[in-house]
Amino acid sequence: MSSLIDRFSRPINYLRLAVTDRCNLRCIYCMPPEGVTHLAHEEILSYEEILRFLRVAVKAGVSKVRLTGGEPLVRKDVEHLVEGIASLLPSLDISLTTNGILLPTKAEKLARAGLKRVNVSIDSMQPETYRRITRTGELRDALAGLEAALEAGLSPVKVNVVVLAHLPEELEGFVDLVRRLPVHVRFIEYMSPCGAMDRPYYVPAGEIMSKLVPYGNLQKAAPPPGAGPARYFRLPGAKGLFGFISPVSSHFCPECNRLRLTADGRMRPCLFSRDETDIKAVLRKGCADEDILRAIVRCLEKKPRDHGGLSSFAGRAMYQIGG
Ligand code: GTP
Ligand code: 5AD
Ligand code: SF4
Repeated sequence: MSSLIDRFSRPINYLRLAVTDRCNLRCIYCMPPEGVTHLAHEEILSYEEILRFLRVAVKAGVSKVRLTGGEPLVRKDVEHLVEGIASLLPSLDISLTTNGILLPTKAEKLARAGLKRVNVSIDSMQPETYRRITRTGELRDALAGLEAALEAGLSPVKVNVVVLAHLPEELEGFVDLVRRLPVHVRFIEYMSPCGAMDRPYYVPAGEIMSKLVPYGNLQKAAPPPGAGPARYFRLPGAKGLFGFISPVSSHFCPECNRLRLTADGRMRPCLFSRDETDIKAVLRKGCADEDILRAIVRCLEKKPRDHGGLSSFAGRAMYQIGG
């Protein structure tokens, strides 16, 4: 059990760690089309700094670490970081959220380094729609990444689908996917405060669920290993599950278990909280472990009860926070 408990008695044991703000795609809901400036090399926490921080966080009760970005696999030698994290505590649940494009070259190395599982973002199973959403990506590359993750033995493998306007008419491709492969496909309501699209847009999870009815009777299912907010359902005969992540229509804040660290070393108590704690400044002034712990607790004390209705911008776009 975590010794990190927030003001609302929620045990906090899950850390989402953004390792870069760069990406090899440019999804319409995540990054604006132009005017993106990236962090300079020296602004980003080094692997040594991340490990120093994590050593303290793990001692304090963090038992799940998810690497995010930007796209975490574009950071050089990220498998070395995974190896370092795995050596902190053998039972640590180390996972990663990726667009999958680099998995064919990285999945095996990551699994050997100690990565347990992976979530792959694939927002459409139609090549043209996929290209339009990612602005530059090829669906076949992301699918090759998915297969590489399965072959490397990463488990479970989940697919993240942000629900956009096209989706209700394109569900068949995802039905085929869960029938064919043991991957869990999760539909995520679009969160406009962190998004990069100019108009707030969202389809409630319930609408997607009802569009799935013609494919079979969805039955409630136990969640696969994970620490996140998805609710799962089984389509009879399918190898994978369907999941729904509904931050807008039924928010899951009462069960929130996480803190976030951005690539430039700012700790966020909530995805939507602008109130960041500057961990990098603490790390770079030659601190003791107790100073790091104090900074984590300072951040924890600012954790809000909930996201406040998703009405105001979170201060940074998704690629800068890691989702
Ligand atoms: P598992 O441990 O595999 O269940 O992972 P996860 O669902 O926590 O992680 P992932 O990175 O795949 O996130 C899936 C979606 O959930 C993304 O759109 C995230 O932005 C969203 N999400 C994750 N955590 C939170 C949260 O604390 N609040 C909100 N509002 N959304 C979240
Ligand atoms: N709303 C919901 N999910 C989002 N993601 C990125 N931006 C948004 C948004 N505005 C998802 C990505 C990735 C995860 C980390 O967050 O698709 O799977
Ligand atoms: Fe936790 Fe904030 Fe996400 Fe709610 S919106 S689940 S409080 S991080």
